[in-house]
Amino acid sequence: MLEKFERIKLGHFPTPIEHLKNISKYLGGPNIFIKRDDCTGLATGGNKTRKLEFLIPDAIKNKAELVVTVGAVQSNHARQTAAACTLMGLKCLIILEQRVKDPPEIYMNSGNVFLNKLYGADIKLCPKNENFLEYYEKIVEGLKSKGTNVYFIPGGGSNSIGALGYVECLNEIIKENNKYNFSHIIHATGSAGTQAGLLAGRKYFNCNIPVIGICIRYDKATQINKVYTEAKKTCEKLQCKVLDKSEVVVFDEYIGPGYGEPSEDMIEATNLLAKKEGILLDPVYSGKGFAGLIGLIKNKKFTKNDNVLFIHTGGAASLFAYEWVF
Ligand SMILES: Cc1ncc(COP(=O)(O)O)c(C=O)c1O
Repeated sequence: MLEKFERIKLGHFPTPIEHLKNISKYLGGPNIFIKRDDCTGLATGGNKTRKLEFLIPDAIKNKAELVVTVGAVQSNHARQTAAACTLMGLKCLIILEQRVKDPPEIYMNSGNVFLNKLYGADIKLCPKNENFLEYYEKIVEGLKSKGTNVYFIPGGGSNSIGALGYVECLNEIIKENNKYNFSHIIHATGSAGTQAGLLAGRKYFNCNIPVIGICIRYDKATQINKVYTEAKKTCEKLQCKVLDKSEVVVFDEYIGPGYGEPSEDMIEATNLLAKKEGILLDPVYSGKGFAGLIGLIKNKKFTKNDNVLFIHTGGAASLFAYEWVF
């Protein structure tokens, strides 16, 4: 069934799985492995490549004249969408929300914002005092009323089409799992498409590895609802058994002061990966995701012999906009 959905090649797959031997030793177990979805290729890589491999053909099928998407100022999804559109000859408009309270100028212009421009996307910045949903809906309606055929991609590319990318990611993991026998999969969860795809994949491929999401924006109850809603729709799309809500496992203790706001344990995790493994995390997603993994290890969530797979969902491009934090 998965093969029935149109897909275009935008990235380098399968992504490698590597053993974080220095960190595993430093933390005293479990064995931590990392799936390098930060190396998916498109626009410095990240989890959106997989989603866009399904979303962009849908835009083309719908004869889109303009792809519009939304996100925070340092959205990685925006950067990857801008690159995918350029590659496929589509125009791209990115509408950005100011979620971080008092960011320095570098946050507003460097990192992903700079790259969006380099890829040729148009950018609109929602003023801080305006309601973001109303702001971008008005723009989209305005474009449509002028006759532009708009293809709208929700924040993070998280709908049941984008989530198919992470059904495919689970397929890659399962294919290699006889070498590893993973006890858990863990990653940062935000707009929910990544975890929704992995959880739908568990049903589709009949796989029992638990998937843990580390919240980076919403509280536990909100995130569970978001993930469950998209995972259910994805199961329905794949015509497989629908998951039970109890299968959605998330932790919301690692958000810190808020979405995109630096936290002490994110800084610690990002420093640790850089200095012990030579791997770049990011301040908004994978840094908090890895901080969550360290926190759960400290709370004895895993045994010393567990083999835990951290999915590195990318995001290092925003490090340049967050240099002040480190
Ligand atoms: C680097 C990175 N990691 C993780 C996520 C979270 O993935 P999702 O939005 O599918 O929950 C995002 C989403 O924007 C991201 O950019």
